[in-house]
Amino acid sequence: MDTNYIKAIIDMSQARVDFEQKRFVNKQPINKLVGYDTIIDSLKTKGYAVVENFYSEQKCRALRAEIDRVHKLHENDGFLWVDKYGADKRVFGAEVDSDLIREFYKDEFLLDIAQNYFGSTMFNSNTLAARIDATPYNIGSGQGWHRDAHHFQFKAIVYLSDVTIDNGPFQIIEGSHRSGNALRNMVTMDIKDMTTRYTDEQIQKVIDEDSSKYRVLTAKAGTLVFADTSSLHAGMPIKEGYRYSLFNYYYPSWENKEDKRRYFNCVVKVK
Ligand SMILES: [Fe+2]
Repeated sequence: MDTNYIKAIIDMSQARVDFEQKRFVNKQPINKLVGYDTIIDSLKTKGYAVVENFYSEQKCRALRAEIDRVHKLHENDGFLWVDKYGADKRVFGAEVDSDLIREFYKDEFLLDIAQNYFGSTMFNSNTLAARIDATPYNIGSGQGWHRDAHHFQFKAIVYLSDVTIDNGPFQIIEGSHRSGNALRNMVTMDIKDMTTRYTDEQIQKVIDEDSSKYRVLTAKAGTLVFADTSSLHAGMPIKEGYRYSLFNYYYPSWENKEDKRRYFNCVVKVK
């Protein structure tokens, strides 16, 4: 076997072991949630969980207007990021500019799910206010198939507009966050380094191996999605209309919140 191949497998395994050691050493007691085993079990086995009707249509409408307002507010100060297709538009740290977005940022239920899945304390680094529009040649939210990391990563996402197959739904390979599957995926995709980005052809090989694990999360406005984004995932290219969503980015409490906010180029509140 190619030595690069073996090195990549060892490096990825090591990244996971290092993370597990940190989790063990820094373990803190958390509030145990009762009655949400379905969500936690789904996250553990599949890497995602879906909660319908989390927000009402009225609230979704108000939040869509807030996202447009926040994007306009930052269109000239460097905090609005737009992809090269003019499709994917993002403001990180949007809770600074909107009381309504701050409600999602501070939501205790979301943090409780994050912590119960993780098994220790976490913090929400920021809320991303995202809108993606159907522009020519766009490749979808997140710019193609990827893993956010080679070990545990956690996000809460709320769709604020109806997401059909044409509106750039979230796609995920079920179970690809689990160590054994992640190693198998490397072999299937013939990955010989620590890359976290993958071509459509490589992902097709994973789907061909077991197509039942390929999931497209179409849903109504107001649907909440929890995801371990160390899974293989991508936003589907958007063919029609738009998709509005908010994302919370949770991290273990041993991380530094200000460092994370700098990393994401979050909006800085000017006093
Ligand atoms: Fe991602």
